[in-house]
Amino acid sequence: MQPSPLVIANWKMNGNRQLVQQLAKVLRESQADLTEVAVVVCPPAVLLPAWQQEVFYDAIHLGAQDLNEHASGAHTGEHSLALLHEAGADYALIGHSERRQFYGDSGQRVQAKVDAVLSYQEHLFKLVLCVGEHEQERDAGRTIEVVQQQLEEALQNVSAAQIAQVVVAYEPVWAIGTGKTATPAQAQEVHAFIRQWLVQRFGAAAQQIPLLYGGSVKADNAATLFAEADIDGGLIGGASLEAQAFLEICRAAQ
Ligand code: G3P
Repeated sequence: MQPSPLVIANWKMNGNRQLVQQLAKVLRESQADLTEVAVVVCPPAVLLPAWQQEVFYDAIHLGAQDLNEHASGAHTGEHSLALLHEAGADYALIGHSERRQFYGDSGQRVQAKVDAVLSYQEHLFKLVLCVGEHEQERDAGRTIEVVQQQLEEALQNVSAAQIAQVVVAYEPVWAIGTGKTATPAQAQEVHAFIRQWLVQRFGAAAQQIPLLYGGSVKADNAATLFAEADIDGGLIGGASLEAQAFLEICRAAQ
């Protein structure tokens, strides 16, 4: 049985209350078209309450773009799972390449954040583990090696019973924000590896883990990407800031 289609908007450090209302309106008016896909929006944390006011039916979930692994305390500017849940989030991106590259998310820190989500008892968060290689790693033929290392490091303490809380997003760094989308074959090759690695590590239940592709997904390429056997949806950056484009991408995932 295939995982359920899932599309996640990653607004990054963009958007405002007006865009929240605009996208919420478009999704609300299209909800009859979106019964076969789960849609998650990850705005900047400060816009989560604005989304919370707009979220109108279960198929729209809210997510955080990052989290702090501590429960509370002297972590200025950070957001705990409890605070993110209070603001309406029940998904959390972990290990996005921009966090890894520019904000110090080492493999060890990513693993600590994964563990924090899985040990958080107040609410069952879904974690979206982001993995992907840099251009020079792909050019050196090291894509699978890099992705495997990221999976092993991040999921080393995860049990088979917890795997239902895990989503994996493959985002080749060279495709993020560049317009250079991976070809469906390139993406499928890595997704097939991720699927095989997850099933070997966690058993048959891992067949249900949604595997999302991210990296310059647009309304005009989403359908061919999502048609691949192991691509169950997308993690969408720039195109998620345009309501109609994002709606087309959600439709393409069904
Ligand atoms: O997390 C999704 C993001 O990294 C992809 O960005 O703009 O290439 O869709 P974009």
